[in-house]
Order: sequence, then structure tokens, then C-alpha cells
Amino acid sequence: MQRILARELPQKIGQTVFMQGWLNTTRSFGKLTFLILRDRSGFAQIVIESKEELQKIASLQPGSILAIQGQVVESNATTGGVELIHPIITIENAIDAVAPLEYYKPEIPSSLETILDHRPIALRNRELAAVFRIQAELTHAYRLYMHDLIGAVEYFAPNIIGASSEGGAEFFNVDYFGYTATLAQSSQLYKQIMVGVNERVFALMPFFRAEPSHTTRHLSEGKQFEFEMGFFHHWHEILDVQEGCIKFILAYLHKHARTEIDVLGGRIIQAPADIPFPRLTFQEAQELYFKRTGVDERHEPDLSPAAERELCAWARDEKGTDLVFITDWKTEKRPFYAYPKEEEKTLTNTFDLLCAGTEITSGGQRRHTYASMLEGLYSKGMDPANFSDYLSIFQYGMPVHGGFGMGLERLTMTLLQLKNIREASLFPSDGKRIAGNRIKAKLFFGGETVRNEIIRLLNQHKMPFDHQEHAATPTSEDSARVRGISLEEGVKAIILKGKSSKKNYQFNIPSHLKLDMKAVAEIVGERCEFEDPLILEERYGLKVGSIPPFGTLLNLDTYFDEAIAEHKRAAFNCGLITESIIMNAKDLIILVDPKFGRFTKT
Ligand code: 4AD
Ligand code: MG
Repeated sequence: MQRILARELPQKIGQTVFMQGWLNTTRSFGKLTFLILRDRSGFAQIVIESKEELQKIASLQPGSILAIQGQVVESNATTGGVELIHPIITIENAIDAVAPLEYYKPEIPSSLETILDHRPIALRNRELAAVFRIQAELTHAYRLYMHDLIGAVEYFAPNIIGASSEGGAEFFNVDYFGYTATLAQSSQLYKQIMVGVNERVFALMPFFRAEPSHTTRHLSEGKQFEFEMGFFHHWHEILDVQEGCIKFILAYLHKHARTEIDVLGGRIIQAPADIPFPRLTFQEAQELYFKRTGVDERHEPDLSPAAERELCAWARDEKGTDLVFITDWKTEKRPFYAYPKEEEKTLTNTFDLLCAGTEITSGGQRRHTYASMLEGLYSKGMDPANFSDYLSIFQYGMPVHGGFGMGLERLTMTLLQLKNIREASLFPSDGKRIAGNRIKAKLFFGGETVRNEIIRLLNQHKMPFDHQEHAATPTSEDSARVRGISLEEGVKAIILKGKSSKKNYQFNIPSHLKLDMKAVAEIVGERCEFEDPLILEERYGLKVGSIPPFGTLLNLDTYFDEAIAEHKRAAFNCGLITESIIMNAKDLIILVDPKFGRFTKT
């Protein structure tokens, strides 16, 4: 039998159909059990009466893959107005593992941090899935608009490149066969090169930014919608393209992502087709902010986040749109390629587009002669030798041109009024996570990786240390002997479990002393016990006896007994029972940055 999707059920009333999908939830009311099945189109309700069928699914967890044959009937109890009755269920993949979070509920009752910790599963949630479907639709709309309405040609630029385009320090260097390469912050230089070929070009390109600050609107990896055009009468034609683009995307979403927008409670910003986005110069924007709030930032070279929010509130209150352009930014605040105004060289033909309180786009006219481009590079203290490919286009003829870069995640976040940009990135990277994973807890998992990370840290901080390989040592006395140091200089690292919180803590003490569990309980506010060695292996990849005093690397609250600081050296197993590190105790304390206390007895 052909597979029918949840979405198609209303057209199948009275028929027997075959469905496949994931078990989402079950709820029982007396003799009836309601099973919710999830497939790529949505959810279907299946009513189970038969004891035999109920028995089949009784021990299954959400996520189990089911095939169900049943009869479609009208129902006023479901949103779709239909349900399946008299089901015959086949279990295609039985799952008995309990999921780490309740993704199958309409809204996951967990914090964003927990949701990110379990990203692959959390993404199955209805609301999370809706965000990323809308993101896919708006990307499609961008392509349609650029290709069909603007006549621009899509390009694909490299991401491993020779030099930073946007200036500043926010870029990543990577080791490239022993040379240093840079991860692109933007495909800026390449889109200008492609204007020399196709006049109008667009792309959806990854960007990488080593953002030092942890904010709700910065990622270290994201995507930018890029656009660039040559030949215009007035540089505001770039703003016209940008404005048309946003309005096109919104109209497209209302038409093609209505269901998903409804799943998110109908939250989407306003940009009515007949209301132009207001265009304020930077100076006018500063004056307006001052007039509305009394906060004087008129001598600042930039708009503060508070000013950005206020200007968007003004646009909404006074004009009825959530977007506002800010133009004519100061030369000192824009990249080397920004076009200086002929009448006022301290200002540029550039703009930002603010949406619902946040910058989503930067763009503008570019310098287009070779002499002007060199002037731009020198004025920012940059070396033209790093830009020879790029500079050649100006030697061989570039028209008046300009464009913009719009952040995909910023656009998704502001359109849908999400609170944090991480909600608009499938696997967000920032200072604390790589592709969604906490850097410390997961990347440094396992004895060898922990050892490598410790050695990397020691080298990075240029701290002296001795790294020894030796036979496994059953006791602390044996360890001291093979390491050739005193027993007191050995550090014993113990991972405990809180009896009520089940949370792990690490307590580190000199090898000749014992842990005082009473003192420990006072420090952490609950009674503790030694963590099960099997759990230690499973959770941290570490065997008892191999654990280094680097609990902070494992994301553990880490405590050092004050006696450790009283010795000159510290020796410990560095993740493997057959390897030790001996180093200065004061360096160890700098690297681990533990909390201190007294929790030993003899
Ligand atoms: O403002 P930015 O840095 O401008 C450029 O990259 C220029 N090459 C654009 C141009 O054509 N002149 O970045 C453009 C947009 C920002 O407005 C923002 O939406 C997004 O890219 N963006 C970020 N989004 C999230 N996290 C970050 N760290 C971002 N950096 C830039
Ligand atoms: Mg910008």
C-alpha cells in the first residue's frame, strides 16, 4: 500500500490508509489510547481500542518507528479534523531509551542550554522544526527574488582564504599545510570580483567570526545572504533592492509557511508592502534617539544596542513597519572598501538595516577605482600585498557598484522574534560551543584527548612540565616511586556524586591524605558519594586512577584542598593510568582555576 502523510488525511476520509512515522506521544483515557504519529508533514492522531494493538506499543518510547494501517474518520477532537481508527500497528524500529528531554511536547520544558546540549533530538520538536522550515523557505524566497526579479547570478566563493576582508580582529586563522589561512568573514571580495563578470550577483555564504563577546546576537559561524550590483544612478538603488527583498520574503512566507508561522503562535514582524522602510542618516538617527530618550550618544561613532531598539520602536510606532535603514555612517567605522561621500569624506555611502531592534544587514557603495581602493587600504593600515587578486579588478575596470550582506540567522531571529540567535542556528558555534556541543564537556572526552588538551594548555602557556610514561600503578605510594617524587606532591583527583542533585563534583587532595566527606558536604550543600567507576568511564572516558585534577576541563565544579598550594610541585595521572605529568603547583592552579577549601583528614 502507498504511504499517506498526515497532511493528506483530510482527503482520505472513509478510506483505509497506510502511514509510517515516529511515535510522538500516547495518552490514555479509559479504554481509549490516543497515539500521535509524526511524519514529515505533521502529526496524525490514531485511536487505539484493541488490547492487542495497545500491547504492541505499551513499552515503546517516543522515537520508535511505526507503520500503521487504519481507517480515516472525521473527528472534532483534532486540529486537522481527522483521525485514524481501528489501527493495525507494525513496529519497524522499537526504541526503549528514554530521551534526555521532552522534545515531543508542543514546547520543550527545558532551558536553551539543555536544548542545545541535546540538539539532534531537540530539533524534532514541533516549534524548533517550524523555525528551521521557515528558514529554509525564506532562503528559497531569497534565491527566487534575486534570480527572477533582480536577474542576479549566483556565485560560490571560497571559505579558506588569504586575508581578512572586514578588518578588526574577529577572524579565525587555521593551519594550512604549515601556512596560515583565514576563514572568510564574508565573501565581500569575491562578490565584487564577480560584479566584474556578471554585474549582478548573489550568494548564500558561510561566514566565520571570532567574536570574543557572548551575546544573544553573535555566532562564530553563520550564513550571509550576499548581494552586489554594478551600474546605478544613485546608491540608494541598493537599498531599494534590499527593501524589495525583505517584502518579497515576507509575502512568500505568509503564502508558503503559514502552518509553521501558526505553530510559532503567529509571531512574525510587520513590513507592509505599501509602507517604505524609513531612511535616516546616522546623524538623524542619533538626534532622534536623543529626542526620544534624553540619552545623548551624539558623539559616539556607533549606535548602541539600546539606540537600535529605540529606532525600531520609533519606526513601528510612527510608520507602522518594523524595519529602518540607517545611512551615511562614519568612515572610521566602516571597512576599507566603503565609498567616501564626495561632499564629506568623513562619511560613507553605506547603510545598515535594522529589524525589530537588531542590525540584520550592512551594505553600501564601494570604492571602484584602483587609486581609491589603495587609499582605503592604507587608511586602515592594511597591506595591499595581501589583496593582489582583488586589487587587479580595479586595475582592469570596475563600474560604480555596491551591495549588502544580510545575516541568515539574524534575519530568522528578528522575523520570528526569537530571543536568542542560537535558536536560529541548527548547530550554533560560539565561544562556548562548537557546532552545538559544549567545548569542554564533549570535545575533550576520553583519556587521550584529555591528556592532549592538558599538554596543549601547558605548551600554550609556556609552562615547564615533565611528561612520563610508566607502568600502571595501583597505589599512590607506587605512583610516587615511579615518578621519583614525594607522596605529598602527588594530587589525587576524586569525582563525587551529589546524593540529591546527582551532579558530579571534582575534589583534589594531596595523595597522602584522605577526603573528609563531612567537609565536602558542607562545601557543596549536599551529601556526596564516590561516583561509580562505570559511569566515570561512560561519561568522561576516564578510568579510576587516571583522572587528572583538571575537573574544569570536564565542566565540573572543581575544588583543590589548600594543602596542594603548599607544595612546590604537583604530580598526577593525566587521563591515562600509564602516564603522569609533573609540574609546578602554582601553574596547575592557574590552569585549572579551582575553588579552594580544607576537606582532608589523615
Ligand atoms: O555587518 P557585516 O560585518 O558586513 C559585512 O560582512 C559586509 N561584507 C557586508 C557588505 O556587503 N558590506 O555582516 C553583515 C551581516 C550583519 O549585519 C549580520 O546580520 C551578520 O552579517 N553577521 C552576524 N550574525 C551573527 N553573528 C555574527 N558574529 C555576525 N557577524 C555578521
Ligand atoms: Mg555590520
